[in-house]
Amino acid sequence: MKIISVVGARPNFMKIAPFIRAIEKHNIQSGQKVEHILVHTGQHYDHQMSQTFFDALNIPPADIHLGVGSGSHAEQVGNTMIQFEKVVMEQKPDWVVVVGDVNATLACSVTAKKLHVKCCHIEAGLRSGDWTMPEEINRLVTDRLSDLLLTPDKLSIENLKGEGVPDEKIGFVGNIMIDTLEEQREKAASLSIAGVLKENLLLENTVIPEVEEEHYAVMTLHRPSNVDHKEIFTSLIDFLTSEVVVDMPLLWPIHPRARKQLEQFGLWDEVVATSNLVLMQPIGYHDMLRLNMNAKIFLTDSGGLQEECTILGTPCLTLRWNTERPITLWEHGGASVLVGNNVERIRKEYRNALVRGRKPFRPELWDGHTAEHCLKAILNAS
Ligand code: UD1
Repeated sequence: MKIISVVGARPNFMKIAPFIRAIEKHNIQSGQKVEHILVHTGQHYDHQMSQTFFDALNIPPADIHLGVGSGSHAEQVGNTMIQFEKVVMEQKPDWVVVVGDVNATLACSVTAKKLHVKCCHIEAGLRSGDWTMPEEINRLVTDRLSDLLLTPDKLSIENLKGEGVPDEKIGFVGNIMIDTLEEQREKAASLSIAGVLKENLLLENTVIPEVEEEHYAVMTLHRPSNVDHKEIFTSLIDFLTSEVVVDMPLLWPIHPRARKQLEQFGLWDEVVATSNLVLMQPIGYHDMLRLNMNAKIFLTDSGGLQEECTILGTPCLTLRWNTERPITLWEHGGASVLVGNNVERIRKEYRNALVRGRKPFRPELWDGHTAEHCLKAILNAS
Protein backbone atom coordinates (compact mmCIF):
# COMPACT_ATOMS: atom_id res chain seq x y z
CA MET A 1 0.00 0.00 0.00
CA LYS A 2 1.24 3.42 -0.91
CA ILE A 3 0.15 6.68 0.74
CA ILE A 4 1.00 10.21 -0.33
CA SER A 5 0.39 12.75 2.40
CA VAL A 6 0.43 16.46 1.77
CA VAL A 7 1.53 19.53 3.73
CA GLY A 8 1.61 23.13 2.55
CA ALA A 9 1.29 25.68 5.30
CA ARG A 10 2.36 26.01 8.93
CA PRO A 11 -0.75 24.53 10.58
CA ASN A 12 -0.29 21.30 8.57
CA PHE A 13 3.08 20.36 9.99
CA MET A 14 1.92 19.50 13.54
CA LYS A 15 -0.86 17.40 12.03
CA ILE A 16 1.31 15.31 9.72
CA ALA A 17 4.15 14.62 12.19
CA PRO A 18 2.20 12.10 14.30
CA PHE A 19 0.70 10.50 11.20
CA ILE A 20 4.15 9.76 9.80
CA ARG A 21 5.19 8.32 13.15
CA ALA A 22 2.09 6.11 13.20
CA ILE A 23 3.06 4.70 9.80
CA GLU A 24 6.63 4.03 10.96
CA LYS A 25 5.33 2.30 14.10
CA HIS A 26 2.89 0.22 12.06
CA ASN A 27 5.63 -0.86 9.67
CA ILE A 28 7.88 -1.98 12.51
CA GLN A 29 5.15 -3.75 14.47
CA SER A 30 3.18 -5.46 11.72
CA GLY A 31 5.89 -6.27 9.23
CA GLN A 32 3.35 -5.11 6.63
CA LYS A 33 4.89 -2.20 4.78
CA VAL A 34 2.96 0.97 4.12
CA GLU A 35 5.02 3.03 1.70
CA HIS A 36 4.77 6.72 2.50
CA ILE A 37 5.64 9.75 0.41
CA LEU A 38 5.53 13.23 1.90
CA VAL A 39 4.74 16.10 -0.46
CA HIS A 40 5.29 19.75 0.58
CA THR A 41 3.49 22.16 -1.72
CA GLY A 42 5.73 25.04 -0.61
CA GLN A 43 2.94 27.52 0.23
CA HIS A 44 4.87 28.44 3.37
CA TYR A 45 8.56 28.68 2.60
CA ASP A 46 10.18 31.03 5.14
CA HIS A 47 12.47 29.10 7.47
CA GLN A 48 10.44 30.18 10.49
CA MET A 49 7.12 29.22 8.88
CA SER A 50 8.23 25.81 7.64
CA GLN A 51 11.69 24.25 8.23
CA THR A 52 11.65 25.15 11.94
CA PHE A 53 8.66 22.85 12.35
CA PHE A 54 10.24 19.98 10.40
CA ASP A 55 13.27 20.22 12.70
CA ALA A 56 11.36 20.60 15.97
CA LEU A 57 8.86 17.83 15.26
CA ASN A 58 11.34 15.43 13.63
CA ILE A 59 9.44 15.38 10.36
CA PRO A 60 11.57 13.73 7.69
CA PRO A 61 12.42 16.03 4.77
CA ALA A 62 9.65 16.11 2.18
CA ASP A 63 10.22 13.51 -0.53
CA ILE A 64 8.82 15.90 -3.10
CA HIS A 65 8.68 19.70 -2.93
CA LEU A 66 6.32 21.47 -5.33
CA GLY A 67 7.70 24.97 -4.65
CA VAL A 68 4.46 26.85 -5.32
CA GLY A 69 5.23 29.79 -2.97
CA SER A 70 3.07 32.87 -2.50
CA GLY A 71 0.36 34.13 -4.81
CA SER A 72 -3.36 34.66 -5.10
CA HIS A 73 -5.58 31.75 -4.10
CA ALA A 74 -6.14 30.78 -7.71
CA GLU A 75 -2.40 30.89 -8.36
CA GLN A 76 -1.57 28.80 -5.30
CA VAL A 77 -4.30 26.24 -5.94
CA GLY A 78 -3.70 26.12 -9.70
CA ASN A 79 0.07 25.77 -9.44
CA THR A 80 -0.29 23.10 -6.77
CA MET A 81 -2.70 21.11 -8.95
CA ILE A 82 -0.41 21.30 -11.97
CA GLN A 83 2.59 20.06 -9.99
CA PHE A 84 0.72 17.54 -7.84
CA GLU A 85 -0.95 15.93 -10.86
CA LYS A 86 2.48 14.94 -12.16
CA VAL A 87 3.39 13.46 -8.78
CA VAL A 88 0.22 11.39 -8.52
CA MET A 89 0.54 10.14 -12.10
CA GLU A 90 4.10 9.07 -11.49
CA GLN A 91 3.74 7.64 -8.00
CA LYS A 92 0.32 5.99 -8.43
CA PRO A 93 -0.58 5.99 -4.73
CA ASP A 94 -3.49 4.04 -3.26
CA TRP A 95 -4.41 6.98 -1.04
CA VAL A 96 -3.78 10.71 -0.88
CA VAL A 97 -4.07 11.99 2.70
CA VAL A 98 -4.76 15.68 3.25
CA VAL A 99 -5.07 17.53 6.55
CA GLY A 100 -6.76 20.72 7.70
CA ASP A 101 -8.17 23.41 5.47
CA VAL A 102 -5.39 25.23 3.65
CA ASN A 103 -4.99 25.65 -0.09
CA ALA A 104 -2.89 22.47 -0.31
CA THR A 105 -5.80 20.52 1.18
CA LEU A 106 -8.17 21.67 -1.55
CA ALA A 107 -5.75 21.48 -4.45
CA CYS A 108 -4.49 17.99 -3.69
CA SER A 109 -7.87 16.44 -2.88
CA VAL A 110 -9.29 17.71 -6.17
CA THR A 111 -6.25 16.48 -8.08
CA ALA A 112 -6.37 13.05 -6.45
CA LYS A 113 -10.05 12.53 -7.19
CA LYS A 114 -9.71 13.64 -10.82
CA LEU A 115 -7.11 10.90 -11.16
CA HIS A 116 -9.43 8.38 -9.44
CA VAL A 117 -7.20 8.07 -6.39
CA LYS A 118 -8.83 7.63 -3.00
CA CYS A 119 -8.60 10.62 -0.70
CA CYS A 120 -8.67 10.75 3.08
CA HIS A 121 -9.28 14.03 4.89
CA ILE A 122 -7.98 14.29 8.43
CA GLU A 123 -9.88 17.02 10.33
CA ALA A 124 -13.06 16.57 8.31
CA GLY A 125 -16.47 18.01 9.09
CA LEU A 126 -15.49 21.35 10.63
CA ARG A 127 -17.85 24.12 9.48
CA SER A 128 -17.92 27.81 10.31
CA GLY A 129 -20.79 28.48 7.91
CA ASP A 130 -18.77 31.49 6.70
CA TRP A 131 -18.29 31.12 2.97
CA THR A 132 -16.22 34.30 2.79
CA MET A 133 -13.32 32.42 4.39
CA PRO A 134 -11.06 30.57 1.97
CA GLU A 135 -10.63 27.82 4.55
CA GLU A 136 -14.38 27.11 4.58
CA ILE A 137 -14.38 26.65 0.80
CA ASN A 138 -11.39 24.35 1.15
CA ARG A 139 -13.16 22.29 3.83
CA LEU A 140 -16.42 22.02 1.87
CA VAL A 141 -14.83 20.89 -1.38
CA THR A 142 -12.38 18.49 0.26
CA ASP A 143 -15.08 16.83 2.35
CA ARG A 144 -17.44 16.54 -0.62
CA LEU A 145 -14.78 14.68 -2.59
CA SER A 146 -13.11 12.56 0.09
CA ASP A 147 -13.63 8.83 0.41
CA LEU A 148 -12.74 8.75 4.08
CA LEU A 149 -13.61 11.65 6.39
CA LEU A 150 -11.90 11.51 9.77
CA THR A 151 -13.38 13.92 12.29
CA PRO A 152 -11.98 15.48 15.46
CA ASP A 153 -15.31 15.57 17.32
CA LYS A 154 -18.92 14.49 17.17
CA LEU A 155 -20.24 17.91 16.20
CA SER A 156 -18.33 17.48 12.94
CA ILE A 157 -19.98 14.12 12.34
CA GLU A 158 -23.37 15.81 12.60
CA ASN A 159 -22.25 18.45 10.07
CA LEU A 160 -21.25 15.75 7.60
CA LYS A 161 -24.44 13.72 8.09
CA GLY A 162 -26.43 16.92 7.56
CA GLU A 163 -24.70 17.28 4.19
CA GLY A 164 -25.64 13.73 3.25
CA VAL A 165 -22.28 12.00 3.76
CA PRO A 166 -22.96 8.28 4.31
CA ASP A 167 -21.98 6.83 7.71
CA GLU A 168 -19.48 4.38 6.25
CA LYS A 169 -17.29 7.21 4.95
CA ILE A 170 -17.04 8.90 8.37
CA GLY A 171 -14.64 7.99 11.17
CA PHE A 172 -14.36 9.65 14.60
CA VAL A 173 -10.65 9.78 15.44
CA GLY A 174 -10.09 12.81 17.71
CA ASN A 175 -7.75 15.73 17.15
CA ILE A 176 -4.42 14.80 15.57
CA MET A 177 -2.80 18.09 16.59
CA ILE A 178 -3.20 17.08 20.21
CA ASP A 179 -0.99 14.02 19.54
CA THR A 180 1.80 16.49 18.84
CA LEU A 181 0.96 18.63 21.83
CA GLU A 182 1.10 15.66 24.20
CA GLU A 183 4.32 14.39 22.66
CA GLN A 184 6.07 17.75 22.92
CA ARG A 185 4.62 19.05 26.17
CA GLU A 186 7.50 18.05 28.43
CA LYS A 187 10.13 19.55 26.18
CA ALA A 188 8.17 22.81 25.92
CA ALA A 189 7.75 22.97 29.70
CA SER A 190 11.51 22.83 30.14
CA LEU A 191 12.02 26.12 28.28
CA SER A 192 12.24 29.45 30.08
CA ILE A 193 10.05 32.34 28.99
CA ALA A 194 13.02 34.70 29.12
CA GLY A 195 14.89 32.34 26.78
CA VAL A 196 11.97 32.13 24.35
CA LEU A 197 11.76 35.92 24.22
CA LYS A 198 15.46 36.45 23.79
CA GLU A 199 15.74 33.95 20.94
CA ASN A 200 12.80 35.29 18.98
CA LEU A 201 12.92 39.07 19.14
CA LEU A 202 11.95 40.67 15.89
CA LEU A 203 14.02 43.79 16.50
CA GLU A 204 17.42 43.63 18.10
CA ASN A 205 17.08 46.72 20.31
CA THR A 206 13.75 45.70 21.91
CA VAL A 207 13.59 46.40 25.64
CA ILE A 208 12.37 43.13 27.14
CA PRO A 209 10.02 43.73 30.08
CA GLU A 210 10.01 41.57 33.21
CA VAL A 211 7.67 38.69 32.28
CA GLU A 212 6.22 36.74 35.21
CA GLU A 213 4.44 33.38 34.92
CA GLU A 214 0.65 33.77 34.59
CA HIS A 215 1.04 37.51 34.07
CA TYR A 216 1.47 38.07 30.37
CA ALA A 217 -0.72 38.00 27.28
CA VAL A 218 0.12 36.35 23.96
CA MET A 219 -1.38 37.33 20.64
CA THR A 220 -1.36 36.08 17.05
CA LEU A 221 -3.26 37.66 14.16
CA HIS A 222 -3.21 36.78 10.50
CA ARG A 223 -6.76 36.51 9.12
CA PRO A 224 -7.57 38.92 6.30
CA SER A 225 -10.74 39.91 8.24
CA ASN A 226 -8.54 41.38 11.00
CA VAL A 227 -5.38 42.58 9.31
CA ASP A 228 -6.44 43.57 5.79
CA HIS A 229 -8.75 46.48 6.73
CA LYS A 230 -7.15 49.66 7.98
CA GLU A 231 -10.00 50.74 10.23
CA ILE A 232 -10.34 47.35 11.91
CA PHE A 233 -6.62 46.75 12.37
CA THR A 234 -6.14 50.30 13.71
CA SER A 235 -8.88 49.90 16.33
CA LEU A 236 -7.40 46.57 17.46
CA ILE A 237 -3.94 48.12 17.77
CA ASP A 238 -5.38 51.04 19.76
CA PHE A 239 -6.98 48.63 22.24
CA LEU A 240 -3.80 46.63 22.63
CA THR A 241 -1.46 49.57 23.01
CA SER A 242 -3.67 51.62 25.32
CA GLU A 243 -5.20 48.88 27.51
CA VAL A 244 -3.64 45.40 27.40
CA VAL A 245 -0.03 46.55 27.70
CA VAL A 246 -1.00 48.66 30.72
CA ASP A 247 -2.12 45.48 32.54
CA MET A 248 0.68 43.13 31.52
CA PRO A 249 3.36 42.46 28.90
CA LEU A 250 1.92 41.49 25.52
CA LEU A 251 3.98 39.04 23.47
CA TRP A 252 3.23 39.12 19.76
CA PRO A 253 4.84 36.73 17.27
CA ILE A 254 4.05 38.46 14.00
CA HIS A 255 2.77 36.62 10.94
CA PRO A 256 4.26 37.92 7.65
CA ARG A 257 0.85 39.11 6.46
CA ALA A 258 0.19 41.10 9.65
CA ARG A 259 3.59 42.74 9.49
CA LYS A 260 3.10 43.78 5.88
CA GLN A 261 -0.27 45.29 6.71
CA LEU A 262 1.04 47.21 9.75
CA GLU A 263 3.66 48.77 7.52
CA GLN A 264 1.16 49.54 4.79
CA PHE A 265 -1.32 51.20 7.18
CA GLY A 266 1.38 53.33 8.84
CA LEU A 267 0.96 51.54 12.18
CA TRP A 268 4.40 50.01 12.35
CA ASP A 269 6.24 52.84 14.14
CA GLU A 270 3.58 53.11 16.84
CA VAL A 271 3.65 49.37 17.47
CA VAL A 272 7.44 49.29 17.65
CA ALA A 273 7.50 52.23 20.08
CA THR A 274 4.95 50.74 22.52
CA SER A 275 6.56 49.59 25.73
CA ASN A 276 5.45 46.26 27.25
CA LEU A 277 4.65 45.07 23.71
CA VAL A 278 7.23 42.53 22.59
CA LEU A 279 7.33 41.95 18.86
CA MET A 280 8.63 38.54 17.92
CA GLN A 281 9.29 36.73 14.67
CA PRO A 282 6.99 33.77 13.92
CA ILE A 283 8.03 31.34 16.65
CA GLY A 284 8.65 27.61 16.69
CA TYR A 285 6.33 24.93 18.01
CA HIS A 286 7.87 24.45 21.46
CA ASP A 287 8.28 28.17 22.04
CA MET A 288 4.61 28.80 21.29
CA LEU A 289 3.52 25.90 23.48
CA ARG A 290 5.68 27.20 26.32
CA LEU A 291 4.18 30.68 26.07
CA ASN A 292 0.68 29.23 25.94
CA MET A 293 1.19 27.03 29.02
CA ASN A 294 1.42 29.94 31.45
CA ALA A 295 -0.18 32.87 29.67
CA LYS A 296 -2.83 34.80 31.57
CA ILE A 297 -4.75 35.24 28.35
CA PHE A 298 -4.42 34.46 24.63
CA LEU A 299 -5.77 36.66 21.85
CA THR A 300 -5.84 34.94 18.47
CA ASP A 301 -7.64 34.36 15.20
CA SER A 302 -6.00 30.96 14.70
CA GLY A 303 -8.10 27.80 14.89
CA GLY A 304 -5.21 25.63 16.04
CA LEU A 305 -4.34 27.90 18.95
CA GLN A 306 -8.01 27.90 20.01
CA GLU A 307 -7.70 24.12 20.33
CA GLU A 308 -4.38 24.22 22.16
CA CYS A 309 -5.76 26.81 24.60
CA THR A 310 -8.67 24.46 25.27
CA ILE A 311 -6.41 21.56 26.26
CA LEU A 312 -4.11 23.81 28.31
CA GLY A 313 -7.02 25.82 29.75
CA THR A 314 -5.64 29.23 28.76
CA PRO A 315 -8.48 31.78 28.51
CA CYS A 316 -8.67 32.55 24.80
CA LEU A 317 -10.30 35.47 23.04
CA THR A 318 -10.92 34.35 19.48
CA LEU A 319 -10.91 37.42 17.24
CA ARG A 320 -13.50 36.06 14.85
CA TRP A 321 -17.29 36.24 14.56
CA ASN A 322 -17.64 32.52 13.96
CA THR A 323 -15.66 29.35 14.38
CA GLU A 324 -15.49 25.98 12.68
CA ARG A 325 -14.34 24.62 16.06
CA PRO A 326 -17.32 25.14 18.39
CA ILE A 327 -16.07 22.43 20.72
CA THR A 328 -13.37 24.86 21.89
CA LEU A 329 -15.95 27.42 23.00
CA TRP A 330 -16.73 28.19 26.62
CA GLU A 331 -20.33 26.95 26.22
CA HIS A 332 -19.05 23.51 25.16
CA GLY A 333 -16.51 23.33 27.99
CA GLY A 334 -13.57 24.90 26.10
CA ALA A 335 -11.44 27.97 26.84
CA SER A 336 -12.36 30.18 23.92
CA VAL A 337 -14.83 33.05 23.54
CA LEU A 338 -15.71 34.56 20.17
CA VAL A 339 -15.15 38.31 20.25
CA GLY A 340 -14.99 39.25 16.57
CA ASN A 341 -13.11 42.49 16.01
CA ASN A 342 -15.37 44.92 17.84
CA VAL A 343 -13.35 46.62 20.57
CA GLU A 344 -16.28 47.01 23.01
CA ARG A 345 -16.88 43.29 22.90
CA ILE A 346 -13.19 42.45 23.10
CA ARG A 347 -12.77 44.73 26.13
CA LYS A 348 -15.72 43.13 27.98
CA GLU A 349 -14.61 39.55 27.33
CA TYR A 350 -10.99 40.45 28.07
CA ARG A 351 -12.00 41.61 31.56
CA ASN A 352 -14.22 38.51 32.06
CA ALA A 353 -11.44 36.17 30.95
CA LEU A 354 -8.93 37.71 33.37
CA VAL A 355 -11.27 36.91 36.24
CA ARG A 356 -12.19 33.44 34.98
CA GLY A 357 -8.68 32.02 34.96
CA ARG A 358 -7.28 28.75 33.64
CA LYS A 359 -9.57 25.76 33.03
CA PRO A 360 -8.16 22.81 31.03
CA PHE A 361 -10.68 20.71 29.09
CA ARG A 362 -10.13 17.55 27.07
CA PRO A 363 -12.78 16.76 24.44
CA GLU A 364 -13.45 13.07 23.71
CA LEU A 365 -10.55 11.30 21.97
CA TRP A 366 -8.22 14.32 22.13
CA ASP A 367 -5.97 11.87 23.88
CA GLY A 368 -2.75 11.73 21.91
CA HIS A 369 -3.63 8.61 19.88
CA THR A 370 -5.50 10.11 16.95
CA ALA A 371 -2.82 9.35 14.34
CA GLU A 372 -3.06 5.64 15.10
CA HIS A 373 -6.85 5.78 14.70
CA CYS A 374 -6.38 7.57 11.35
CA LEU A 375 -4.00 4.97 9.96
CA LYS A 376 -6.21 2.13 11.18
CA ALA A 377 -9.23 3.70 9.47
CA ILE A 378 -7.30 3.99 6.19
CA LEU A 379 -6.09 0.39 6.38
CA ASN A 380 -9.61 -0.82 7.13
CA ALA A 381 -11.04 1.15 4.21
CA SER A 382 -8.46 -0.19 1.74
C1 UD1 B 1 -2.43 30.21 5.41
C2 UD1 B 1 -3.73 29.40 5.41
C3 UD1 B 1 -4.46 29.62 6.72
C4 UD1 B 1 -3.57 29.33 7.90
C5 UD1 B 1 -2.31 30.16 7.80
C6 UD1 B 1 -1.34 29.93 8.93
C7 UD1 B 1 -4.88 29.09 3.25
C8 UD1 B 1 -6.04 29.50 2.46
N1 UD1 B 1 -4.64 29.81 4.36
O1 UD1 B 1 -2.77 31.57 5.43
O2 UD1 B 1 -5.58 28.75 6.77
O3 UD1 B 1 -4.27 29.62 9.10
O4 UD1 B 1 -1.67 29.85 6.55
O5 UD1 B 1 -0.21 30.71 8.76
O6 UD1 B 1 -4.19 28.18 2.89
N2 UD1 B 1 4.31 34.67 3.41
C9 UD1 B 1 5.63 34.87 3.73
N3 UD1 B 1 6.38 33.78 4.04
C10 UD1 B 1 5.87 32.51 4.05
C11 UD1 B 1 4.52 32.34 3.72
C12 UD1 B 1 3.75 33.43 3.41
O7 UD1 B 1 6.13 35.98 3.72
O8 UD1 B 1 6.61 31.56 4.36
C13 UD1 B 1 3.50 35.84 3.06
C14 UD1 B 1 2.85 35.68 1.69
O9 UD1 B 1 3.65 36.21 0.69
C15 UD1 B 1 1.56 36.40 1.85
C16 UD1 B 1 1.21 36.25 3.32
O10 UD1 B 1 2.41 35.88 3.97
O11 UD1 B 1 1.70 37.77 1.58
C17 UD1 B 1 0.13 35.21 3.52
O12 UD1 B 1 0.56 33.91 3.13
P1 UD1 B 1 -0.42 32.80 2.51
O13 UD1 B 1 0.29 31.52 2.44
O14 UD1 B 1 -1.08 33.31 1.29
O15 UD1 B 1 -1.62 32.65 3.55
P2 UD1 B 1 -1.69 32.73 5.14
O16 UD1 B 1 -2.34 34.01 5.50
O17 UD1 B 1 -0.39 32.38 5.77
